[in-house]
Amino acid sequence: MDKFLIEGNGPLSGEVAASGAKNAALPILCASLLIDGELNLSNVPDLHDVVTTKKLLAQMGVAVASPGPGLFTADASGITTCVAPYELVKTMRASILVLGPLLAKRGHAEVSLPGGCAIGARPVDLHLMGLKAMGAEIELEGGFIKARATRLKGARIYFDTVTVTGTENLLMAAALADGETVLENAAREPEIVDLANCLTAMGAKIRGAGTGTIVIKGVANLHGASHAVIPDRIEGGTFLVAAAISRGKVRLVKTDPNALDAVLVKLQQAGARVSTGEDWIEVDMQGRRPASINLHTMAHPGFPTDMQAQFMALDCYAEGVGTIRETIFENRFMHAQELLRLGADIRIEGNTAIVTGREKLTGAPVMATDLRASAALVLAAIAAEGTTTIDRVYHIDRGYEHIETKLGQLGAKIQRVK
Ligand code: EPZ
Repeated sequence: MDKFLIEGNGPLSGEVAASGAKNAALPILCASLLIDGELNLSNVPDLHDVVTTKKLLAQMGVAVASPGPGLFTADASGITTCVAPYELVKTMRASILVLGPLLAKRGHAEVSLPGGCAIGARPVDLHLMGLKAMGAEIELEGGFIKARATRLKGARIYFDTVTVTGTENLLMAAALADGETVLENAAREPEIVDLANCLTAMGAKIRGAGTGTIVIKGVANLHGASHAVIPDRIEGGTFLVAAAISRGKVRLVKTDPNALDAVLVKLQQAGARVSTGEDWIEVDMQGRRPASINLHTMAHPGFPTDMQAQFMALDCYAEGVGTIRETIFENRFMHAQELLRLGADIRIEGNTAIVTGREKLTGAPVMATDLRASAALVLAAIAAEGTTTIDRVYHIDRGYEHIETKLGQLGAKIQRVK
């Protein structure tokens, strides 16, 4: 199991490019199951979760290929099975995203129930509620979701809770359903818009992606398409926090400033000078210690839960006391225990963390527990005095493309040891 060895090394500076968005690439790869023909993707990030998705599609008989860096092709016309096995699903919950497309295109699917994960129970009841509303017969048997539908029918579906992959699963299913589907209280993340744009390129009829109400007019068939995946706003946001926590100056390029509104507001509140252009964002801390910020996580366009851990790390070094409330997941404070090992002053009260900033933290051995928690530990280690070792960095490899290389280019002293 790889470890990171990180030496606190002063302010970061320079330019770094965002990679393609993990949470756009995963549903879009699964959308290849909807079409007769080939899906050609570019700007696909080189991440463990993308490799897992490719394996999942390939074991179904999808012809997948990676003709070059960031490129990916998939042709599902010859698939041999509609089963997503436990061995793969247990390593990546997003495997649930094959359910909607298989049901819509092939009329049946067997997907292992994704277990919970470190940050919460992560139920999929809303995915199943929506598919049942569209006429699917669904049974839970032996840890599998077994679903059948002769042809899905358009329906009006209301999500009690905003769910990103729930919206994506039903968006894909509705594209080939008979009639019109309306998704109410739908998720509004930029990754939903990217998926909708890709489906539209395949011939789908979609209105309202990015708003709370999405209307889909089902079509009989979808054809092959080419699509470039949007930049990863969470990876990019993580690098901007790296600039702030190290009191440096970093320009993030190949990004979309509009996808990070809430994060940029918080960085400004922390005292950073933020400037933006067409496809870049610059954060300049001017050597100053950050000011404490308060935040609570919400569905997009609110403050993203995937940036909560990174801002907790920032608050650990800030001037003042910051409160961080996590409203999306029930157990997404595991980074707090590890930050305490670096000398942070954090008090957890239910879903709220009260962080009293310290001028300096001290390096220590810590352990990654989930994807964004490990990113927070990397950020805290970059600004700490002395050496930090982070164990179980496979968590971080799931969502960050060569993070040690990118941060190293900005001046961080970070080394991967086997
Ligand atoms: C997506 O997960 C992301 N993953 C997560 O990113 C992200 O944290 C999350 O959305 C919230 O933004 C991908 O896109 C692959 P949800 P998802 O369904 O879709 C409850 C990362 O770091 N819920 O929006 O699984 C659920 O328990 C990952 O890249 C139900 O109750 O999250 C949670 O409290 C971590 N029933 C809330 O909704 C359901 O059927 C939001 O979950 C579905 C969800």
